[in-house]
Amino acid sequence: GDVAVLVPAAGAGVRLGPGRPKALRLLGGEPLLVHAVRRLAAAASVHTVVVAAPAADLVAVRELLAPVAPVTVVAGGVQRQASVAAALAAVPAGPEIVLVHDAARALTPPGLVESVAAAVRSGHDAVIPVLPVVDTIKEIGVGERVLGTVDRSALRAVQTPQGFRRGVLTTAHAAATDPLTDDAGLVEKLGVPVVCVPGSEHALKITRPFDLALAEHLLAMGR
Ligand code: C5P
Repeated sequence: GDVAVLVPAAGAGVRLGPGRPKALRLLGGEPLLVHAVRRLAAAASVHTVVVAAPAADLVAVRELLAPVAPVTVVAGGVQRQASVAAALAAVPAGPEIVLVHDAARALTPPGLVESVAAAVRSGHDAVIPVLPVVDTIKEIGVGERVLGTVDRSALRAVQTPQGFRRGVLTTAHAAATDPLTDDAGLVEKLGVPVVCVPGSEHALKITRPFDLALAEHLLAMGR
């Protein structure tokens, strides 16, 4: 494999309700992070997996993942971007393609990992998986008053794994000033083109209790 995958997994998961850090919440009796890492390791291109875990859970996460796949576990940061930067710094020499994947997208199929990696390998510097937006989107102002309706046909919902030529991601993180919620956003600021590939509904981000209930159902159905 020529691919390293960074897995930021250091978030608290406040929107999921009180409890363990989000990546360690259970889905079908196993932590979200275990599901995510198992599917990443099942992708043939993946050579290295680096997880950024909550600092307080470093040892527990190492023990948790040891039977799943060979992974490096480092301490994450206060913001997702800092967690990604910490994981990126721990990638060994070798892989020239780096993917960044949220632990919260626990049911992401290995096939999506391969399609993002393949698009980078084919020559794109930055690749993101996307889905069409199904709802009508409105911009609102003060007092929840509608300012206007956005042209939905030009919008996409962005997932992970996002894929990058290694040097591009390293440069983007080194140049980053304000924290962003996704890595492609940092690359866009460099003026590097970012291209889209089709995402997967199974790569949903488990953020709120409803998402966890949906993921439980998908898992029980054999997905
Ligand atoms: O909060 P959100 O759902 O956007 O988090 C996306 C991913 O980033 C999750 O896997 C979460 O664990 C991770 N994260 C992190 N470090 C933080 C905040 C979030 O690794 N400080």
